[in-house]
Amino acid sequence: MVVLIAPSILSADFMNLQKEITEVEKAGADWLHIDVMDGHFVPNITIGPGIVRQIRPITKLTLDVHLMIGQPEKYIDEFADSGADLITVHAEASHHLHRAIQQIKNNGKKAGVSLNPSTPVNIIENVIDDLDLILVMSVNPGFGGQEFIPRSLEKIKTLRSIISGGNSSALIEVDGGVKLDNAKDISEAGADVLVMGSGFFSTDDYGATVKRFRENVGP
Ligand code: DX5
Ligand code: ZN
Repeated sequence: MVVLIAPSILSADFMNLQKEITEVEKAGADWLHIDVMDGHFVPNITIGPGIVRQIRPITKLTLDVHLMIGQPEKYIDEFADSGADLITVHAEASHHLHRAIQQIKNNGKKAGVSLNPSTPVNIIENVIDDLDLILVMSVNPGFGGQEFIPRSLEKIKTLRSIISGGNSSALIEVDGGVKLDNAKDISEAGADVLVMGSGFFSTDDYGATVKRFRENVGP
């Protein structure tokens, strides 16, 4: 199974966002990860649906929208309408996770659920078959540039074995502290998609970074 790379624009140069996204696409990255933060669910404020709407026409990359917001049900329709391909909500942020997932799917979008580092995987037991993606947070969400939490590898392995033994076809995405040098360990634990923020945008040549990523996680 090919492991995908999803650069997170949280670490991009926002003064040159269009250029950055064009470069990411030219570099051969697979998805574009967009971190939405509300200042309540996480202690930071970032991107709203208006920016996603402006990004949509300038790239063919899959827009992977990670909602780190409380009451995500209030905003799912708007992010879907703005051009997201995949919308991920946090299990901890929704009182009605099943409803939120159905709402994403009713908008014709792929649905993901994210788990904070302290959240056990069994919280998604009753919805896992409906999911297109499970996003394992390998840092506490809110900021780029944090250290990968090593215990996340066990969680990825647990999820991989649950998926292998059941009916779910969800991809496992890992977000936080992913770098070129730990990408192999994370993919070997069972990840399908790796988000890279600071580890991607701090490099000078995005094409070379994607190439090195593929060499590192390759067979
Ligand atoms: C963290 C965000 C991440 C972040 C990752 O709250 O969800 O997507 O951009 O950044 P790095 O790769 O720098 O840890
Ligand atoms: Zn993210």
